[in-house]
Amino acid sequence: MSVRELYPGNKRHSLKGLYLKLALHRIAAARNVYIYANYIVSLDGRISLPMGTDAMQRVPDSLANARDWRLYQELAAQSEVLITSARYFRQLAQGCAQDVLPLGDPARFTDLQEWRAAQGLRAQPDVLILSNSLNIPPDALPCDRRVLVACGRDASEAAAARLRGEGVALYRCPQGKVDGGFVRQLLITHGYRSAYMIAGPEVHRTLLEAGVLDECFLTLRHMLLGGRSYATCLEGPLAQPVAMELVSLYLDDDIDPAQQFARFRLRKHG
Ligand SMILES: NC(=O)c1ccc[n+]([C@@H]2O[C@H](COP(=O)([O-])OP(=O)(O)OC[C@H]3O[C@@H](n4cnc5c(N)ncnc54)[C@H](OP(=O)(O)O)[C@@H]3O)[C@@H](O)[C@H]2O)c1
Repeated sequence: MSVRELYPGNKRHSLKGLYLKLALHRIAAARNVYIYANYIVSLDGRISLPMGTDAMQRVPDSLANARDWRLYQELAAQSEVLITSARYFRQLAQGCAQDVLPLGDPARFTDLQEWRAAQGLRAQPDVLILSNSLNIPPDALPCDRRVLVACGRDASEAAAARLRGEGVALYRCPQGKVDGGFVRQLLITHGYRSAYMIAGPEVHRTLLEAGVLDECFLTLRHMLLGGRSYATCLEGPLAQPVAMELVSLYLDDDIDPAQQFARFRLRKHG
C-alpha cells in the first residue's frame, strides 16, 4: 500500500497516513479558518455522471476507489466542520447518496476516529450546509454532530422555521446566494479552525469567487469517462482565473488504472 512521490521529492510513502500527517487542523492563523476541498476526477474532467436520470448524478463506481476513499477520510479526519450542499441530503433521503458523511460509519476508519480523539477533536466534524431552496429532508440530517445551514436573503422563512425546529442553526446571508466571505466569517465566528469542503461545482465556485479557499486536493484517475451530461469540479463564471501552486504530487500505480494525488495551494486574489 504505497505511492511514489513525483514532486517535490522522489521517495515512496505509505498510502495510509499520507494526508493525515499534514495536520490541516493546525495550519490556520489566529482567529482564522483553513478551508480545503477535494475531488476525484477523470482525465476528461468528470467528477460525476447521471445515475439514470440527468438530475441525479453521482461519482461513477469506475472512478471511485478505496485508496482514494481512504485519503478522502483522512482529510475529513482533520476537519472541525464539513461544508456541503443540500443536494447530498436530498440524495440521502432517497437512498442514493454515495456514502454516509465522513467519518460517520463507526465500524470503518476506527484509526481515524482514535486519531481525532488524540488530537482533541470532536468525534465527528460538524456540518455546514449551503442551500437556497432549504429543501433539506429533516430525516436525512445527522444526529451525531452539530448542523448549521447557510441560505441566501430570499430563502423561504417557513422552510427556515421548520429547520430551526429540527435543531438546525440557520444563518441568512444578506446576498441572494450564500457568499464565500459569509461562509468564512460564519466559520470563524463559531471558532472553527479547519473546514473541509466536500460539495460539488457550485459550492466550490462560491468559495473560489470570494478567495476563501486555501487548498484543493485533486485525485486524477487515469481514465476517460465520456458522457454528454456530467459535472466538473467548477461551474459558473469567475471574475478572474484562480492560480494554483503545486504543493505535492504522488503516483499511485498499485491500482489499475493508476491515479495521481495532487495537492494545490491557491494563490489569493490581489
Ligand atoms: N468526484 C468528486 O470528488 C465529487 C465531489 C463532490 C461532489 N461530486 C458530485 O458532484 C455532483 C454535484 O454535487 P453538489 O450538488 O454537492 O454540487 P454543488 O453544485 O456544489 O451544490 C448544489 C447545491 O448546493 C446549494 N448551493 C451551492 N452553492 C450555493 C450558494 N452559493 N448559496 C446557496 N446554496 C448554494 C444549492 O442547494 P439548493 O438547491 O438547496 O438551493 C445547490 O442546488 C454530485 O453528483 C456529486 O456526487 C463529486
